[in-house]
Amino acid sequence: MSSLIENAGEPLAFTGGSRFLRACLKKPVDRPPVWFLRQAGRYMAEYREVRKHHTLVEICKRPDLASEVTITAAEKLGVDAAIIFADLLLPLEPMGLDFEFVAGEGPLVHSPLRSPEAIDKLRVDRAGQLEYVAAAIEKVAGHFGDAMGMIGFCGAPFTLASYMIEGGSSRNYVFTKQMMYSEPYAWQKLLDKLVTVLTVYAKQQVDAGADVIQIFDSWVGSLSVEDYRDYVLPVTTRLVRAVQEMGVPVIYFGVETASLLPAMRETGADVIGLDWRTPLDEGWRSMGYGCAVQGNLDPITLFAPEPILEMRVKQVLAQAAGRAGHIFNLGHGIVPGTPVENVQAVVRMVKALSPQFSVKKIQVGPEGGLEPGGSLGGSLGGVKHG
Ligand code: CP3
Repeated sequence: MSSLIENAGEPLAFTGGSRFLRACLKKPVDRPPVWFLRQAGRYMAEYREVRKHHTLVEICKRPDLASEVTITAAEKLGVDAAIIFADLLLPLEPMGLDFEFVAGEGPLVHSPLRSPEAIDKLRVDRAGQLEYVAAAIEKVAGHFGDAMGMIGFCGAPFTLASYMIEGGSSRNYVFTKQMMYSEPYAWQKLLDKLVTVLTVYAKQQVDAGADVIQIFDSWVGSLSVEDYRDYVLPVTTRLVRAVQEMGVPVIYFGVETASLLPAMRETGADVIGLDWRTPLDEGWRSMGYGCAVQGNLDPITLFAPEPILEMRVKQVLAQAAGRAGHIFNLGHGIVPGTPVENVQAVVRMVKALSPQFSVKKIQVGPEGGLEPGGSLGGSLGGVKHG
């Protein structure tokens, strides 16, 4: 758990944990906190070594392994926050749906939900089985104390429902949308059941020491704004509010969400995670600068030569323009094969370069937008400031 080292409400010094938590709450910090989506994963040799001896689900279910993988990644990168090693699909099992990860293909749900009767059978009374995630969080939070923000997470109702109905990853979400349109009562029941389970699951994580809960709505970008509002926004808002009532901020993240951002903001989430396709300043402006934002470097930039990488890091920082409430991150997860040293280089860059992009150096307009003098210079990202 993070607490602040404070003097009359203002911190004397920031720890990774206090910097991260304050940024989630849009409070001023010395520099943007930084962490990475999928910072523990196959791109890291230490993780691959553990994976040689254990399946993904085994790692998730053993608090000693899950905490080790989480801690190793956060320490190796020098980030401000650790995200617990787990997977989005873990709650499917206690709800009564078995799944496995098929090498090279991703998740496979054995009996996908295709009827209202199947939805009726889903159980909501066994979330206690997920306590292994909380046990791992307790270990990580105990290890880091205030030095690191502790992020717990769960899937959002829509994204989890899509895995349950499609049976795995999908391109067009035909079965999911068909259920949504043709069986609206069953759809509502499914999302309600998910919120019931996810609320208990999030509470376990908060009680164990999570400072923040990130809700992954990874595939929500497959919806039109109208469908998002009619079928998904109300139930997602309930989950966000339920988590906030536990006393922690919520980060709400999805991919390909440019047109959905104002509606996603209406969930009341403290932080909206931006994918890399939307320029950070445009995305933030579209939400009236009313929340904190997390993002949004293209994860594939991590394969670029260092000068290009630095240019793109500077562009993200310049677009955030030193406003309170920016958490530096990628616009989606690190992919296998990413050079670890480039991820470490980004952390160094954020730490070294962010003073150039403080509010004092860049003029911020009355509505939070950049004044002309503060916009990016030439195509190689010569950032004008001063
Ligand atoms: O440090 C971290 O962030 C890692 C913890 C983590 C994992 N999954 C471990 C994992 C997190 C935060 C997740 C969330 C998750 N899981 C999401 C949301 C994030 C996103 O990318 O939008 C989703 C959609 C899933 C479902 C899932 N799990 C898929 C689609 C896959 C297959 C991907 C692939 O490339 O094979 C997984 C497997 C998975 N979960 C891996 C890891 C490290 C890789 C497989 C492995 O190690 O065997």
